[in-house]
Amino acid sequence: MKIAIFASGGGSNFQAIADACESGHIPGQVVLCVVSRADAGVIQRAERMGIPQVVLQGSTAEWAPAVLKQLEEASVDLIVLAGFMKMIPMALIGRFPGRILNIHPALLPNFGGKGMYGMHVHEAVIAAGESESGATVHLVDQDYDTGPIVAQSRVPVLANDNAEDLAVRVLKAEHVLYPDVIRAFAENRVRVSGTHITIDPPRP
Ligand code: GAR
Repeated sequence: MKIAIFASGGGSNFQAIADACESGHIPGQVVLCVVSRADAGVIQRAERMGIPQVVLQGSTAEWAPAVLKQLEEASVDLIVLAGFMKMIPMALIGRFPGRILNIHPALLPNFGGKGMYGMHVHEAVIAAGESESGATVHLVDQDYDTGPIVAQSRVPVLANDNAEDLAVRVLKAEHVLYPDVIRAFAENRVRVSGTHITIDPPRP
């Protein structure tokens, strides 16, 4: 399975996924890294691993056709958003139906939506006095964080946690959850029935 990762930040999820491909945990290959900011740390990670990068330029209307062409030329099967801070245009969603994943650093449907990204999410979880948070992998639709949920991983919120403490704990959970979900897609173990998604256990 050929994977394109879209990212905007440090790229620790990019790294976890690319490492899982290299180790054989995911039967797939990261063939393209699409980056929305020229100063994103993920660019160095992709360079070190010899994975081609595309840095988005201009408006969505300008970059979308070029990226679509690159995805097609690279025969990409699955698009994985890993800390990507831009909206995915309809043209891409239409071309990859049920094949675009996002990871969100909270237990959706709570603490999602516009403005809920990165540290804002963890601050909101702590301010709400939650005893639990986690990570959610979901399919991408035309809105923020509303697509069908594929899988979640839960972590506790501890009494003296600040947003940074919680972010570290959630990110660690993301690095396990995301490669496992991508592996399930690569092994054709994901069953979609309307908005209800289940994952079959790995075959022995
Ligand atoms: C991750 O925590 C991811 O869940 C979050 O950005 C971080 C990226 O970290 N994504 C969102 O908030 C999207 N709404 P990374 O660059 O180290 O993978």
